[in-house]
Amino acid sequence: MSIDASQFKNALKLWASGVTVVTAHSESEGPKGMTVTAFSSVSAEPAQILVCLNQSADTGALIQEQGRFAVNVLNSDQQTVSNQFAGGSSQAERFAQLNWRAGETGVPVLSDALASLECRVVEAVKAGSHWVVIGEVQAVSCQDGSPLLYFNSAYRALA
Ligand SMILES: Cc1cc2nc3c(=O)[nH]c(=O)nc-3n(C[C@H](O)[C@H](O)[C@H](O)COP(=O)(O)O)c2cc1C
Repeated sequence: MSIDASQFKNALKLWASGVTVVTAHSESEGPKGMTVTAFSSVSAEPAQILVCLNQSADTGALIQEQGRFAVNVLNSDQQTVSNQFAGGSSQAERFAQLNWRAGETGVPVLSDALASLECRVVEAVKAGSHWVVIGEVQAVSCQDGSPLLYFNSAYRALA
């Protein structure tokens, strides 16, 4: 028995999540990033997380090449940032309009994010249309604030 893609999407959009921007750095092309909700904690010791990235995404290819990336957890004021990093604008435009810095490991870190986790790629597994990328967390930064949430195809905030 199998289900079709719309049944799958209808069920999955009922999963509420935070919103992240996953970033990496290219020496020749500069910073790159994409909006990602498929993010999860994997293990505390060692500290590992995972993200699922479409194999067609520019940023995913760069992460495979560089072996480093950051996951930036967006705050509730960063809906525009999420939309910009979800396509439509060039990588240069995405980064021109926000505060970012090179993190401790050299990957781009969004200065206003609630949390940033700088990672080294431990393993990348092809699964369907996506890469499941497992990263070991090498540096973290956090600040106070409320998260941007995503549920049923719309942005939300904590009540
Ligand atoms: C709310 C939201 C969540 C998203 N989550 C993911 C995700 O988890 N994985 C993924 O590969 N793409 C996800 N996307 C789509 C990518 O952000 C989008 O395809 C991105 O533009 C790809 O980067 P590129 O334009 O550099 O190729 C999401 C988009 C939005 C708006």
